[in-house]
Formats: sequence, C-alpha cells, structure tokens
Amino acid sequence: MNSSSNPENTPPSSIPAIRRSMMPRDTNALGTIFGGVILAEIDLAAGIEARSHGNMSFVTVALDNVEFKEPVCVGDLVSFHTETERIGRTSIRVKVDVWARKHADVARVVQVTTAHVTMVSVDSEFNPMKISRPTLRESQA
Ligand SMILES: CC(C)(COP(=O)(O)OP(=O)(O)OC[C@H]1O[C@@H](n2cnc3c(N)ncnc32)[C@H](O)[C@@H]1OP(=O)(O)O)[C@@H](O)C(=O)NCCC(=O)NCCS
Repeated sequence: MNSSSNPENTPPSSIPAIRRSMMPRDTNALGTIFGGVILAEIDLAAGIEARSHGNMSFVTVALDNVEFKEPVCVGDLVSFHTETERIGRTSIRVKVDVWARKHADVARVVQVTTAHVTMVSVDSEFNPMKISRPTLRESQA
C-alpha cells in the first residue's frame, strides 16, 4: 500500500537518530536501494539510541520484524527514528521507524519499515553486563 495516501500515516515528529540521502553506490541490481544498506543503518540507529542511556558498549543480538513496505530509490532522504521500548537486565530493545522522503516528489513521505532491535550491553570480554539503573537518560528526565 502507498502509505502516503493515508493521512494518519505520518512520520514521527522526533529528531531522527540518522538521516541520509541514498546514493548510486547503495543500489542493488534493479537500481533500487539494497535492503542490507537500510538494515545497516537500522543497526547503527539502534546503537545510537542504546548509547543515549549511558557510557556502555552494545552489540546487536537480534533484529526482528523487518518487512520492507516500499522501495527506496537513489536520492531519497531516509530518516531513522528511534524509541526505547524496553530496558532489561543487560539488554535494551529499540524500535526503529524508517521513513523516506521521495527524491522524485519531495512532498511524498513513505514508511519503509519498522524494526525492533535488541542490543546487549557487554564488558571488555564481550560478556553481557548489567545495565545500571537509572540510566543516564532516565536520571536526566
Ligand atoms: C549478545 C551476547 C553477548 C549475548 O550472550 P548470551 O550468552 O546469549 O547472553 P544472555 O543469554 O545472558 O542474554 C543477554 C540478554 O540478551 C537477551 N537476548 C538473548 N538472545 C536474544 C534474542 N534472540 N532476542 C532478544 N533478546 C535476546 C536476553 O534476554 C538477555 O536480556 P536481559 O539481560 O535484558 O534479560 C552473545 O550472544 C553475542 O556475543 N552475540 C554476538 C553479538 C554480535 O557480535 N553482534 C553483531 C553481529 S555481526
């Protein structure tokens, strides 16, 4: 479905963790953007969100529910909006909403996908490490 035809389907008003314009080097054999490029940015955006909770090191343990609803094209401006969904003992689950402003029609913004990423806080030996509460962000709230 063309998400721009739904007036309720608008991008989040939050500042995106990442915003980038897609380049020809990001394309697949069909000339649209390679899904792996978007997945890499989702992973980065989730890491940025996790790190906003404090000075910890995170690795990605799981990336769920990724379904690409719209193609992304060269020149599209793609925004990765993040939201912390859950903070566990050693993990943080982040929702990443991906929206694209179309190069061919800048008035058109489409939802590309929503991903749920679980990041685990690790120590210097890559063992899961307890997240201290309140996190930096919670203590500033
Ligand atoms: C991430 C890693 C350190 C976790 O080790 P582990 O022995 O599975 O640790 P645990 O079983 O104690 O789980 C740690 C946390 O991750 C969560 N977790 C583990 N597997 C998960 C999964 N598939 N989905 C969601 N959460 C998961 C656990 O629920 C736990 O969360 P909590 O402490 O908040 O309750 C280990 O799996 C690892 O090193 N993976 C590779 C990470 C990596 O290199 N990522 C980049 C890939 S290129």
